[in-house]
Amino acid sequence: MALGLSDTPPWLHSRFLYDDIGSRLFEEICEQPEYYLTRTEAGILEQCASRIREATGPVTLIELGSGNSGKTDYLLAAYAAAEPSVRYVPIDVSEGILNQAKDAISVRHPTVTVTGVADTYERAFPLFKEFSPAMVLFLGSSIGNFDQRESDVFWQGVSDALCPRDFVLLGVDLVKEESLFNAAYNDAAGVTARFTKNLFARINRELGAGIDVDAVEHVAQYNSEWQRVEIYARFLSRQDVYLEPLDRTIAVPKHTMVMTEISRKYDLEKMKEYVRCFDFAVKEVFTDERQWFGLLLLQRLPRKSADQR
Ligand code: AVJ
Repeated sequence: MALGLSDTPPWLHSRFLYDDIGSRLFEEICEQPEYYLTRTEAGILEQCASRIREATGPVTLIELGSGNSGKTDYLLAAYAAAEPSVRYVPIDVSEGILNQAKDAISVRHPTVTVTGVADTYERAFPLFKEFSPAMVLFLGSSIGNFDQRESDVFWQGVSDALCPRDFVLLGVDLVKEESLFNAAYNDAAGVTARFTKNLFARINRELGAGIDVDAVEHVAQYNSEWQRVEIYARFLSRQDVYLEPLDRTIAVPKHTMVMTEISRKYDLEKMKEYVRCFDFAVKEVFTDERQWFGLLLLQRLPRKSADQR
C-alpha cells in the first residue's frame, strides 16, 4: 500500500476498498437512486437467466467478487429449477460478506451447494479446472476497475485457467451520456463519498496511520477521452501518514489527489473484439432497452495445442 501512496501521481489499489465495512457501503451504493448499474444489470439477469441456463447447460457457477450475491439470485433460481443440485463458488476478498451471502442462499435455494473462497481473483484461478464444466460470473462491471494492463493480465489468466467450452458471463457498463456517470458516482446521500473515505479509515484501523479522514474529500469525475470515471481522495490539508508495519512516514501535501479507483465504460463492439483476442467466442449479448448495460455470454474456444497439456 505504501508504494502507491508515495508514487507520482499517488494511488491506492481499489481492492483495498472492500473490507467488511467497505463491502457494506458498496451494497448501500447499489441502492442509491443515481447508481443505475446494479438495478439495470439485475433487470437483464431477471429477463435472461433461463436463456443463459439453456445456452450453458448444467455448470458450476463461479463468481468473482461476489459481494452479497444479490443479482446472482436470478441465475441461482434458473439453474436450481433446471437441475436437482447446483454448485455455486463465490469468491470475494471480504469474508464477512461471503458468510452472509452463504447463509442467505442456503435459505432461499436449499439445493444449491455454496463453497465460498475468501481470496483475490487471481489466487482463485487455479481452482477453475476442478469445477469444469463451469461458468465464471464477472458481473457489475467490476472489470471496469482494471486499467488496460491489468485487464490483459486478467483475461489471459481466466482464459488459461478455464477448460475449453467453459463459459464466462461478463457484465459491463456501457458508454453513455456523461451526466449520468457524474451523478452515479456522486450520489446525493454521500454514500460513495463515505465509501472512498473508508479506505483511509481502514488504513488507520489496520496500519495505525492516524489519518484525519475528515480532511479527505471524495472526488469523482468522468474522463470522456479515456471513457472512464476517475475517483480520487483529495487531501484538504497536509498530512503525515505513518505506516506502523513499515515504521515509515509519508508526507502527503495539501491538495494531493490520491487515485483510489477507475471505473471504465465500454463499447459493446469493441468489447466483443477484445475478448476474442483471449480465445473466447461471444455466444450471446443481452442488454436493457436503454442500452445502458451489457451482459456478454462468452465461451472458451479450444486451442490448437496448449489445451492438450
Ligand atoms: C464495483 C467497480 C463496479 O465502478 O461502479 C461504485 C465500484 N465505486 N461507486 C463501479 C464503485 C464507486 C463499482 N464497481
